[in-house]
Amino acid sequence: MKPRTPIAPFALLIFFSSSITYCFAGNVTYDSRSLIINGRRELIISAAIHYPRSVPGMWPGLVQQAKEGGVNTIESYVFWNGHELSPGKYYFGGRFNLVKFIKIIQQARMYMILRIGPFVAAEYNYGGIPVWLHYIPGTVFRNDTEPFKYHMQKFMTLIVDMMKREKLFASQGGPIILAQVENEYGYYESFYGEGGKRYALWAAKMAVAQNIGVPWIMCQQFDTPDPVINTCNSFYCDQFTPHSPSMPKIWTENWPGWFKTFGGRDPHRPSEDIAFSVARFFQKGGSVHNYYMYHGGTNFGRTAGGPFITTSYDYEAPIDEYGLPRNPKWGHLKELHGAIKLCEHALLNGERSNLSLGSSQEADVYADSSGACAAFLANMDDKNDKTVVFRNVSYHLPAWSVSILPDCKKVVFNTANVRAQSSTVEMVPENLQPSEASPDNGSKGLKWQVFKEIAGIWGEADFVKSGFVDHINTTKDTTDYLWYTTSIIVNENEEFLKNGSRPVLLIESKGHALHAFANQELQGSASGNGTHPPFKYKNPISLKAGKNEIALLSMTVGLQNAGPFYEWVGAGITSVKITGFNSGTLDLSTYSWTYKIGLQGEHLGIYNPGYRNNINWVSTMEPPKNQPLTWYKAVVKQPPGDEPIGLDMLKMGKGLAWLNGEEIGRYWPRKSRKSSPHDECVQECDYRGKFNPDKCITGCGEPSQRWYHIPRSWFKPSENILVIFEEKGGDPTKITFSIRKISGFPK
Ligand SMILES: *[C@@H]1O[C@H](CO)[C@@H](O)[C@H](O)[C@H]1NC(C)=O
Ligand SMILES: *[C@@H]1O[C@H](CO)[C@@H](O)[C@H](O)[C@H]1NC(C)=O
Ligand SMILES: *[C@@H]1O[C@H](CO)[C@@H](O)[C@H](O)[C@H]1NC(C)=O
Ligand SMILES: *[C@@H]1O[C@H](CO)[C@@H](O)[C@H](O)[C@H]1NC(C)=O
Ligand SMILES: *[C@@H]1O[C@H](CO)[C@@H](O)[C@H](O)[C@H]1NC(C)=O
Ligand SMILES: *[C@@H]1O[C@H](CO)[C@@H](O)[C@H](O)[C@H]1NC(C)=O
Ligand SMILES: *[C@@H]1O[C@H](CO)[C@@H](O)[C@H](O)[C@H]1NC(C)=O
Ligand SMILES: *[C@@H]1O[C@H](CO)[C@@H](O)[C@H](O)[C@H]1NC(C)=O
Repeated sequence: MKPRTPIAPFALLIFFSSSITYCFAGNVTYDSRSLIINGRRELIISAAIHYPRSVPGMWPGLVQQAKEGGVNTIESYVFWNGHELSPGKYYFGGRFNLVKFIKIIQQARMYMILRIGPFVAAEYNYGGIPVWLHYIPGTVFRNDTEPFKYHMQKFMTLIVDMMKREKLFASQGGPIILAQVENEYGYYESFYGEGGKRYALWAAKMAVAQNIGVPWIMCQQFDTPDPVINTCNSFYCDQFTPHSPSMPKIWTENWPGWFKTFGGRDPHRPSEDIAFSVARFFQKGGSVHNYYMYHGGTNFGRTAGGPFITTSYDYEAPIDEYGLPRNPKWGHLKELHGAIKLCEHALLNGERSNLSLGSSQEADVYADSSGACAAFLANMDDKNDKTVVFRNVSYHLPAWSVSILPDCKKVVFNTANVRAQSSTVEMVPENLQPSEASPDNGSKGLKWQVFKEIAGIWGEADFVKSGFVDHINTTKDTTDYLWYTTSIIVNENEEFLKNGSRPVLLIESKGHALHAFANQELQGSASGNGTHPPFKYKNPISLKAGKNEIALLSMTVGLQNAGPFYEWVGAGITSVKITGFNSGTLDLSTYSWTYKIGLQGEHLGIYNPGYRNNINWVSTMEPPKNQPLTWYKAVVKQPPGDEPIGLDMLKMGKGLAWLNGEEIGRYWPRKSRKSSPHDECVQECDYRGKFNPDKCITGCGEPSQRWYHIPRSWFKPSENILVIFEEKGGDPTKITFSIRKISGFPK
């Protein structure tokens, strides 16, 4: 069935020169073996690096580090909600400068895979779709509804036209060799009934009609229509077959690690197992492979999806969040890529045969008439090493490993044999130092400026309503914060006022987190997601005789980013009761509630360097500790050196941080807790056997995220304005810049 191409003598010549240069005059087509670029089959080893998850100053280094790691292609999604801020109002600056990012890839002479989506999931806020689109009547995301299709097509066309204008498609001499429409829709299509089927077909046709001159892919789309190519996303894709026998095997997402949640643990995917999965894919005829992520980066600001995705999107990827190689992972995969490259010609042009070498051992051999021959010997047994005989020679195969023999004789690489050196990482604390330019010059130490928000309505109320509104419908995600406030009168005859007991405040919320205040005092906090029964808050409440103000600060912590109808998942308070009155329980759910969207500091933009109105700030050498709802500001020096910086927030509670007006993101050094019966921490991780994110967990009881990346390029030489908003109380004097030092990487 497989088309066989006779080998012309010059083909080898092209093959050898291809490892040095890539030509960008591009006709990209495909057959069952691979992509065909300029008439020649090529292996694609690709690295996902999402441009908004780092900063332009890091892009060239990240791309170069990927290239040094043996990768020839960079992949990214396109993040619609970062680009179309309101209908027709676009942004392509800073971290969202897509064209600049692609040109850096082009300058590095690498290819690019552009996954436009524009639905992306990606643990990104709202799956990458703008929140405003949900509020255009008649819209159901990812279904056959006119407003959704209209705005999706408009954005897709805008991106495609921008790429065409800049000549970035391979068909124009640019680096983009593949483009993706939609994302992982196959899982959900059936939830949308006939509308879903029509939508998927429409999306494919709409994409193809854009005439980009390179193939389109749809990943995890089981009924992909030709000529669009379906692809695989998983921890293993060796068994994947494309929907049409004339199409190549494309693995859009091999997950070399996993994401984290606030309160969640540290998943770990061993290098041996990633290498095994990659080698198995190429062994079984795969030819396009992408690491999701190769560099995960940071969910700056409020871009994290949710609920509860951490600000760090490190992903335990081969390049860490801070842009440093993670070893041995990076080095082991580099060696693997080198070994696979040596097999490229045979893999793509040779005839494939497979033979059994034992009950769980097999060889796949790629050979052609020119004498080229490459073999992959696999031992899928997850416990026992095995010695096998292949072509009269014995080979030792460790359990759960693949040996690569680019000449069918000599093993140049075994996935379980990690030769790359391990690196160790240290976060070396550097106390915040007052900047020379700061008004009193630091002789006495760091000066802080402090501004305390009131608990409840500041300024004028936004509206009053009896009962509760949905949080997301109200804030439209312009802020994480929504105040729900009311008041109650306590009769002085209440027994609890005399006998020293306290009534109990009971709250139910659809998500995601909540701080309860009575008469300006914090009473307690709780959190939980909105996809299950409401989370419950239950704590004693201090009340006095007479009027008592109840102020509830409800918070979103990243909007849902995937699932059928995910855009309809709400958040916010649904029930408030107080028990322990003489008359029993007081139900406040039908009371009149007064609402305020966001915080005063947010409204004023006091984190912006341009904010010069000092009436709100109070200067002090001793900032208050454990004080809720407090803004802290300090003018600090840039830490010495050029190593990456993480802001150590271990002694803080929960909130948001900025440097020089740039959004560092949400912080919440919440300790990790058990989230499923399976997530037990392990002392040692056995890489052998199928990986799942619960398999090799560490960090039990540790803060799920202690350090928050601040890109070096955000610092100024002299004065740097650090602003923190703390919700529940922390100790700002314990905040440090930690310098990320890495050792054991031979350079
Ligand atoms: C692209 O390549 C294919 C197959 O090699 C060929 O059939 C087609 O004519 C080429 N298209 C262009 C525009 O060169
Ligand atoms: C999907 O859209 C169609 C309109 O084309 C509508 O009839 C159907 O109810 C929608 N399905 C869902 C589940 O929203
Ligand atoms: C070769 O591969 C095919 C397809 O995966 C499989 O059905 C067959 O059993 C294999 N043959 C041997 C000898 O392992
Ligand atoms: C293996 O050895 C046998 C017997 O010595 C020989 O006939 C055969 O040609 C050898 N096969 C290879 C692939 O070298
Ligand atoms: C900072 O201190 C130096 C001496 O240590 C002094 O000359 C300078 O005027 C001070 N700058 C400011 C802005 O106070
Ligand atoms: C105090 O009074 C409250 C309200 O009547 C009652 O529920 C509680 O049990 C009393 N506590 C004590 C210690 O008597
Ligand atoms: C929400 O919480 C429930 C219960 O803790 C859990 O089973 C579920 O997986 C969570 N869902 C999400 C989307 O986090
Ligand atoms: C949000 O508002 C929309 C109307 O704009 C409504 O259809 C939807 O049910 C509301 N969502 C929640 C969770 O209340």
